[in-house]
Amino acid sequence: VADSLPLTPISSGSPHHRLTKVSVIGAGKVGMAIAQTILTQNLADEIALVSAHPNKLRGEALDLPHAAAFLPRVHIVYGTDAAVTKNSDLVVITAGARQTPEETRLNLLERNVALCRNIVPPVAEHSPDALLLVVSNPVDVLTYVAWKLSGFPASRVVGSGTNLDASRFRFLIAEHLDVNAQDVQAYMIGEHGDSSVAVWSSISVGGMPAFKWLRNSHRSFDEAALDGIRHAMVGGAYEVIGLKGYTSWAIGYSVASLAASLLRDQHSVHPVSVLAAGFHDISEDHEVFLSLPALLCRRGVLGVAEMDLTEDEAAQLRSSAKTLWEKCQLLDL
Ligand code: LAC
Repeated sequence: VADSLPLTPISSGSPHHRLTKVSVIGAGKVGMAIAQTILTQNLADEIALVSAHPNKLRGEALDLPHAAAFLPRVHIVYGTDAAVTKNSDLVVITAGARQTPEETRLNLLERNVALCRNIVPPVAEHSPDALLLVVSNPVDVLTYVAWKLSGFPASRVVGSGTNLDASRFRFLIAEHLDVNAQDVQAYMIGEHGDSSVAVWSSISVGGMPAFKWLRNSHRSFDEAALDGIRHAMVGGAYEVIGLKGYTSWAIGYSVASLAASLLRDQHSVHPVSVLAAGFHDISEDHEVFLSLPALLCRRGVLGVAEMDLTEDEAAQLRSSAKTLWEKCQLLDL
């Protein structure tokens, strides 16, 4: 085959535009679900895959482009060394141990902090202007670790946080109300884990506060239903992990939604793990990361929406912050 097609040239190459590069660290179930979704949603011109498992990595990097006839054109590079991530616009960190049904996300702390200590410095060196999006669990503590080890401004270091929990919350409410989940606004904030805070007062459907909508539509939102929704939400991941061993598809779409908001400068609001010191009476001295509604753009976090929380919701959030800050202080970073 000729090394170039016999096309009559009418311009000197493709118009130069800023190519978007996304690197995914970790080619496991979560990393590949994210890479596949970013590819399908045409969010990157180049995707770099990094893994400590060379054969699995090569297998994934060979498999994906076999779908080239059905997907947007993308350049896929891969390697066990962070050098392959050079000049990334966004680096998604998914590497690490995943929880078993008997473990909480916080139980993964020591193993995954040790990994982050090896992953973050070279990634930051190769892409000093990148956005960092941490997914590995416990994501709030690991986002703090990535912030400390990268030396990046906090605005460019985000954790996937409760973006997925909020989607579970919206799904469960939508099922209960028999409406489309995309027409349900509802927030989960705080830890992406057992102490996450359901902001019941934030629920609205089509712009109408849910409880008012229910009264008008003569449906009930009895306490048992509320408890059932909260239990199903916090326990959602555990149930899936108990059945298939891990979660992947939902986190893949959750992270791709964040990547789109960041890379496409959407200025959209997501509950993600950000530096929360000073919000909702969390001490200014507590450099803790946890999920709050953040406005995301191409430069990272543009701002944080200070929600109107009930005293109970605010107290739960501060308790979540205390738990996480105590874990961060043990890390000596
Ligand atoms: C979950 C994992 C990503 O909640 O923590 O599915």
